Amino acid sequence: MNLKDLYIDFFVSKGHKQIPSSPVVPENDPSVLFNTAGMQPLIPFLMGQPHPYGKRLCDYQKCIRTNDIDEVGDTYHHTFFEMLGNWSLGDYFKKEAITWSYEFLTEKLHIPVDKLAVTVFAGNKDIPFDEEAYLTWKSLGIKEERIAKLEDNFWIAGSTGPCGGDSEMFYWRSNDEVPKVFDPKDERWVEIWNDVFMQFEKLEDGTVRELPFKNVDTGMGVERTVAILEGKTDNYASSIWTPVIERIEKLTGISYVGNERSMRIIADHMRTAVFISADPAGIKPSNTDQGYILRRLIRRVIRHAKALNIDINSNWEIELAEVILDLYEKYYIELKENRKVVLEVLTNEKLKFNRTLEKGLREFEKIIGKLESNNLDKDLAFKLYDTYGFPIELTEELALEKGITVDTLGFKEKFKAHQELSRTASSGKFKGGLAGNSEVETKYHTATHLLNAALKVVVGPDVHQKGSNITEERMRFDFSCDHKLSDEEKQKTEKLVNEWISAALPVRVEEMDKSEAIASGAECEFIEKYPDRVTVYTIGDGISKELCGGPHVNNTSELGHFRIKKEEASSAGVRRIKAVLED
Ligand code: ALA
Repeated sequence: MNLKDLYIDFFVSKGHKQIPSSPVVPENDPSVLFNTAGMQPLIPFLMGQPHPYGKRLCDYQKCIRTNDIDEVGDTYHHTFFEMLGNWSLGDYFKKEAITWSYEFLTEKLHIPVDKLAVTVFAGNKDIPFDEEAYLTWKSLGIKEERIAKLEDNFWIAGSTGPCGGDSEMFYWRSNDEVPKVFDPKDERWVEIWNDVFMQFEKLEDGTVRELPFKNVDTGMGVERTVAILEGKTDNYASSIWTPVIERIEKLTGISYVGNERSMRIIADHMRTAVFISADPAGIKPSNTDQGYILRRLIRRVIRHAKALNIDINSNWEIELAEVILDLYEKYYIELKENRKVVLEVLTNEKLKFNRTLEKGLREFEKIIGKLESNNLDKDLAFKLYDTYGFPIELTEELALEKGITVDTLGFKEKFKAHQELSRTASSGKFKGGLAGNSEVETKYHTATHLLNAALKVVVGPDVHQKGSNITEERMRFDFSCDHKLSDEEKQKTEKLVNEWISAALPVRVEEMDKSEAIASGAECEFIEKYPDRVTVYTIGDGISKELCGGPHVNNTSELGHFRIKKEEASSAGVRRIKAVLED
């Protein structure tokens, strides 16, 4: 039987009810991007709200911790992991919790007592030493020298909320002889389980108050425990990862041994990306919040897949995701229900990034080759982001491999300033802005600029915009022209717009005086409509330059395929094109 089933069966036999895993994106807690522990969705109940399933609960919870994302690649870091937990909501307390932990470890997992050690809370100025936990462990047969009393054995999720002293369990993961005395600093002892005795609440002002009742919150990491039970010192060598790593070996034609780091990153990030995109919250890759994490994960997978010579244009991402979906869908229904969505998200993001990755990597090499110091400045880092879609963390990672640092702080300031400018522009402050645009409408908006520019090339420089209208479904563009477009003109226009989309051209925004904008040759529909300070959007090296309120996409590669659906008369000397963007 596998660990998850074994655990749930055991605690159900001790009167617990199994509760379903909550989504990875918290439903009622905007303070965190993802659930980071099994207890997170249970906070209201740990604070006193009655739980519909009763006072004894257990589950396996999907967790995502992204602060260690850069550490992934070693033997034990993961961005996604499953946490087993059992809870008492004002029911049993230390004695039962510790006794059951001991029983599960020694009788169900068959861990010899000699390979176990524990910690207990040593106490601090506010809260006394946890003698009860100490004595309970001793009574079960854990020797005194294997019980460490630690002052920082206090657990809280974040900085406020339910909390309490905890007792951690460690396993001797080494072939070396087990030392008599437990030294928590010796890394051969690995933590496998944590029992938190939540009897306090920490408030905003830093004070701690007693909760109306005493809870137990426990957490055991599935990945680590399975690796330990299977005698592996590398979590990624355990049976949890075998099918995924084997598929990566098949896709690359090379062995895990010798290529561990990239393969672990691919395996870990792909699994996390699958779970985020399958979540009922409907997260899609974007440049903010959970969407940004998803984008970063997928782009990092692609980068490492490329480093291992996977044919990026093949269906590798589908093959790999399917292995993960097959492994987990028995436990998580949303993976079954949203299978198609997950695969689409991965492929779309791959296509989007692929268009610029190659060029971006070349540009990166060029930039590095020309550097006169060991630091990449904010403008170059921003160029890689803006033009080639490189998340700053990717630039940092590539730079680090060459021993170069990046002005990340400067980048972030520049990024913020850029966002604010874009936001002001799109908030309607400048007339002509399309306030409240959706992502799709934003794409159409950029497409009108490309169409305008293409018509000038194909039909002639006298073409000017006479109006436009955008919905989620299509764009309409009116322009000055004295004749009905021929089929050839339509085809050429369509082709040119699509070439510019494929060329993955950056879209830049600048603020300047209106006179300066006009002098620079920027195009605009009604000059009177604009205030004295205007925003100007430039695509590529000046293929299109227009006074405009935005918003626009960052790069034309985001648009998809452009298709003209209709060309007709609008009024005297004005023609109208209806067009769509297709995936
Ligand atoms: N909430 C505790 C932890 O995450 C059990 O370690």
